[in-house]
Amino acid sequence: INLGILISGRGSNMDAILGAIKSGRIKNTKPSVVISNKPDAAGLKIASEKYGVPAKVVPADGLKGWDYDQKVVAVLQAHGVTPQSGLVCLAGFMRIISPEFVRQYKMRILNIHPALLPSFPGLHAQKQALDYGVKVTGCTVHFVDEGVDSGPVILQKAVPVMEGDDEEALSARILEQEHQLYPEAVRLFCEGRIKVQGRRVLVT
Ligand code: GRF
Repeated sequence: INLGILISGRGSNMDAILGAIKSGRIKNTKPSVVISNKPDAAGLKIASEKYGVPAKVVPADGLKGWDYDQKVVAVLQAHGVTPQSGLVCLAGFMRIISPEFVRQYKMRILNIHPALLPSFPGLHAQKQALDYGVKVTGCTVHFVDEGVDSGPVILQKAVPVMEGDDEEALSARILEQEHQLYPEAVRLFCEGRIKVQGRRVLVT
């Protein structure tokens, strides 16, 4: 399975996934390309220098929706990440994917979200959780559908909110779990162990 990872910034989840592939924990996959919409994304350097994975920038230049996404898809295809046999991981990619992209790569695009969906979708999920006052939050790996953070849930991990947490402290506690959860979901996908039945995802 040829893997493409889309990022916009730090790339710590990308780092965790590439590390799990390098160490042999995830098999049956080749990290084929990392794509950022931001030229200054720190993750680009990690991809190319630490892992030797091709790192490409596809700048938005004001393009929206499919007008932009088709440029990303062209780069994915050029690196062998096809709708038939590829896997696309969104890892801090700060754009909403167009319906055309989602339909082409049906059930082959994953995302990680720093909350227990369907709670706190969208931006600043950790701050949303603090502001709401929940005692437990966490992270979710899910398939990407045409909505925002609304696709079938693959894996979730709960993380406690501590008294005295600020956004930074809570985000760090969640991020630690993200780095375990996302590689695990990619591993299951690459082993062909994920079955989707409507909204329910079964791990076999
Ligand atoms: C993570 O918190 C992820 O859950 C969210 O964006 C952040 C990306 O961080 N979607 P990184 O670029 O993987 O370090």
